[in-house]
Amino acid sequence: MRNLLSLHIEPHSGINFVVGANGSGKTSLLEAISMLSRGRSFRTPQIRKVISHEHRDLTVFGQLAVDGESPQHRIGIRRTSGGETLAKIDGERKDRLSDLALMLPTVDVESSSFELVDGGPSVRRELLDWGLFHVEHRFLEVWKRYRTALEQRNALLKAGDGPALKQSLLYWDSQLAEHGHALDSLRQDYFDKFAVTLSALAERYLGLMSITVQYLPGWNQLHYPSLLACLQQNRGAELEKARSLYGPHRADLEIRWEGQPARDICSRGQKKLVIYAVRLAQVVMYQQARGSTPILLLDDLPAELDKSNIERVSRFLCDYPCQSFITAIDKDIRDSGLLSMFGSHRMFHVEHGQLIHATSTHPERRETTPHV
Ligand SMILES: Nc1ncnc2c1ncn2[C@@H]1O[C@H](COP(=O)(O)OP(=O)(O)O)[C@@H](O)[C@H]1O
Ligand SMILES: [Mg+2]
Repeated sequence: MRNLLSLHIEPHSGINFVVGANGSGKTSLLEAISMLSRGRSFRTPQIRKVISHEHRDLTVFGQLAVDGESPQHRIGIRRTSGGETLAKIDGERKDRLSDLALMLPTVDVESSSFELVDGGPSVRRELLDWGLFHVEHRFLEVWKRYRTALEQRNALLKAGDGPALKQSLLYWDSQLAEHGHALDSLRQDYFDKFAVTLSALAERYLGLMSITVQYLPGWNQLHYPSLLACLQQNRGAELEKARSLYGPHRADLEIRWEGQPARDICSRGQKKLVIYAVRLAQVVMYQQARGSTPILLLDDLPAELDKSNIERVSRFLCDYPCQSFITAIDKDIRDSGLLSMFGSHRMFHVEHGQLIHATSTHPERRETTPHV
């Protein structure tokens, strides 16, 4: 994929640095690992952009060793420019990409992560749902039921308000409300713990007392404790807009910095710290629920961060032994002091999409996390 025509790495179970000049393929390497987990790129939904020019498909393959043992699982994904996707685990075809994510959970900080602060609500909803997907076995079923109700209801609202549709709409109102409350309550529970974890981590590791988050459920619960009542009392507005305007599909997280919306007042570096705080909270929540840690993909870690903040993030990585892939340009890796913070690590030098050489420190830590 991208400029990586064929690349093979055997990473450290702890810290891996990927270094090289601009355009050498560092982010593409992280994108490949993320592709193996999510089946799609973190940079673009258009697979054609990710597939190497003049090629028709891409393949990413990994061998996973859980608990630092020899490889126990094989995981692979192939995507074609014609839109086909083939995912396999241990040689068996998987129709649901979520199976890949369950086996190889990843958490990333890369340039599109800034959407968490600057973008629309969907990325922040995804953040809650990522956590729920991994820690709450009921989530996927509840989410699917809600989505079905939403799709049915939207189709009816689009069709208008003829008498025949009215009855169906009443039915889908109650379905949307029932599954909506179930989804909202899962999100609310997860969020409550997430908010506490986030402020504790932001303070402890990033020295920040300024970040607060608030969950917005997608409708005004003070005014309408019942979603059903909200739907029925706002029928006119929904028919006019021809879509569902209230419910968990409109939920959001409000991220504030010193009481103000982070998107309005934070510098780029401060936004990056906010993203790190959020990501670290996701990692810790995952670790508390599952006993293992996801793989961290940290693109250009030193960029935009001063030395003390780089050190702070590194301290977290020392305390929580995640398998991590950290990219940086050569100069930043030297100047940041990052290398000296991790006794044991491996470093991959990439150039024009190829692995030039890999250097390792010894001995390697033995981990309890899955790693590629
Ligand atoms: N579909 C593609 N096919 C081939 N090369 C690509 C494709 N998309 C991007 N590239 C090239 O891949 C190179 C590596 O990009 P990237 O991984 O973002 O570099 P880095 O993160 O090291 O700065 C860039 O030179 C870019 O132009
Ligand atoms: Mg890059």
